[in-house]
Amino acid sequence: MPEIALTDSFAESKRLLKSKDHQPFSMAEQYRIIGKRLGVDFSPTIRLLETLPVFLHGSRHADVRRSMAINLSAAREPQECAAQQIVDGLPELLAPGRSVDLIEDFIRPLRNAMFVHNGTSFTIDQDLSDKATKLFDDRSRLKERMETNERLREFIESEPNTADQRLIVLGQNVLGATPLIGSMGLSLHAVFSANLGKSLKNTSYPKRYPVSAVPSTDRILTLDSGHADADSHQATRCVLHSKGYSREENDEMFFGMGEHACLGRPIANAVWSMVTTKLASLDVTILSSNLTMETDMPETREDYLAMTVLFIRPRSLKVEIGP
Ligand code: HEM
Repeated sequence: MPEIALTDSFAESKRLLKSKDHQPFSMAEQYRIIGKRLGVDFSPTIRLLETLPVFLHGSRHADVRRSMAINLSAAREPQECAAQQIVDGLPELLAPGRSVDLIEDFIRPLRNAMFVHNGTSFTIDQDLSDKATKLFDDRSRLKERMETNERLREFIESEPNTADQRLIVLGQNVLGATPLIGSMGLSLHAVFSANLGKSLKNTSYPKRYPVSAVPSTDRILTLDSGHADADSHQATRCVLHSKGYSREENDEMFFGMGEHACLGRPIANAVWSMVTTKLASLDVTILSSNLTMETDMPETREDYLAMTVLFIRPRSLKVEIGP
């Protein structure tokens, strides 16, 4: 990756996201370079990355985005029903006296139930989606990436005729899972922290997620060739979500904007509304001493800027329920 400049101005971030001259960088290109340097065949990984619209532009982006939009639109209703069933289990999960990790015990099962429905007849292994997300986390070890690369090879070779369609479904799961799990976890933590000691029934819930697991995204100035060249040293990290933005600005930018605006926005918003409606019906409290969250957010600005792509992953969100 080139050196990254940071823009935390709402107007400038918006301008860059809407600008035709700025494109996402090519993650596949990064793997071509690493593969060449190390003598590793990363072609399965590269094939998946060339199916993730966040890293594409031009006609390839338009084609993949269209296919994902069709799948996600067909998946919307069954995903909502599946989500509602898990949400309906919240009263039992959050019964007085229980200690719960909301990430493991609620949000992951919620994601798993939803993503079984993907708008096609293909079944995609959630574990492979989770592992594939780590392919664009700089902190992942090479060994781990190579193992995922081999699992992708098996995934592709198991049925070569349908590989392109299945990669699109895997891609939509990869792009949806971490932002959804992360934003739900971070947002619930923020709501609970601000309402400690109050019954969930008397807690005020924002209409939109108050915290994002995708707080920024990168754009690179396109050269005359039309390619976003990762070595052009003109990369900008656009802040999408920030304490420095007004609530309206954060809401407007939460799911990105322009050509790459999030395709999961309707379902993600529907699920937030389902979850908060159910929580608002529960007459229990979250005990203050036992509300803890662990995340993998980089601690320093240097570490943050050194990351190629930033998703914040809450590892756990532990709560203890009182009467
Ligand atoms: C609260 C949850 C979510 C958040 C905060 C979120 C956020 C975002 C953001 C900021 C982008 C734009 C990235 C950029 O411009 O570089 C994006 C793109 C995308 N999101 Fe989401 N997302 C969420 C949930 C989902 C879900 C549930 C799905 C699918 C099941 C999904 C699918 C996608 C896809 C396919 C794109 C790529 C669009 C493109 O590049 O054309 N997202 N998301």
